[in-house]
Amino acid sequence: MTGTVVWFEGIPFPSLQYSPEILREVQESFLIKDEDVLLMTFPKSGTNWLIETACLIYSKGDSKWVQSEPIWDRSPWVEAKYGCELLKEKEGPRLISSHLPIQLFPKSFFKSKAKMIYLIRNPKDVIVSGYFYWKIAKFVKRPQPLEQYFDWFVQGNGDATGWFDHIWGWLSMRDKENFLILSYEEMKWDTRSTVEKICQFLGKKLEPEELDSVLRNSSFQAMKENNMSNFSLLKGRYLEENGELLRKDVTGDWKNYFTVAQAETFDKLFQEKMEDLPQDLFPWK
Ligand code: A3P
Repeated sequence: MTGTVVWFEGIPFPSLQYSPEILREVQESFLIKDEDVLLMTFPKSGTNWLIETACLIYSKGDSKWVQSEPIWDRSPWVEAKYGCELLKEKEGPRLISSHLPIQLFPKSFFKSKAKMIYLIRNPKDVIVSGYFYWKIAKFVKRPQPLEQYFDWFVQGNGDATGWFDHIWGWLSMRDKENFLILSYEEMKWDTRSTVEKICQFLGKKLEPEELDSVLRNSSFQAMKENNMSNFSLLKGRYLEENGELLRKDVTGDWKNYFTVAQAETFDKLFQEKMEDLPQDLFPWK
């Protein structure tokens, strides 16, 4: 598998699933419909957990769907060749995933009533999660060791764009009523309340036992055991045989990997870049 990237509007994308032509088409003419639900994240922020949760809310906790269809088919990636084609064929309310920065997202969204959930995560944990993921990914070459990956991240060479730009861009939507901001940390610390918040946002009323089932079937352990959600189907061609999407079930793992100097550098950068945003948006702080 090659480790090449394609560049689009100054941003690198793995060439395996992305092309400038499709990225342009998605941006200019992909039609987001009012009834669509968009699941937006920077890579490694808990995207698949959010997708699994949303699917289970749609199926009222019934696990048949999440256990029979791969996660990338249930909520396809609008910017990827495969996902974009699949979405065009899909009927009815669609779940749509994306890592795109706001300036590359389909323009039609901004005139629609489609709802978007934006899931963010402590960027220090995003770095650690990304570092381990890209080590097992075959489709793109990544810097190693962690120090190099750290520098690369801080300089903003992320998959969709730099983390800071992604956050600034999407958080500009924060006062819109069709936009819900969640964090991996609140999902982890109070999963039930967060799932209830998602249900309310999506206008889905679940019975208590249905909610219990959503929580049970989207848990770390349940997802790790579910071959339709744990990326084991990607092993061989896209991921190393020993590769795990669901690595650890924790917040604050960066403390096990960052040096004191790295943590200080990152905190300073965060402060500089983010001080003009309300700090309660970042519950890990
Ligand atoms: P770690 O690498 O810190 O373990 P994404 O889906 O955006 O690629 O994010 C992957 C991260 O989300 C991984 O973090 C993974 O373990 C975590 N994750 C996935 N499903 C989860 C779940 N059900 N509960 C908690 N964390 C989950």
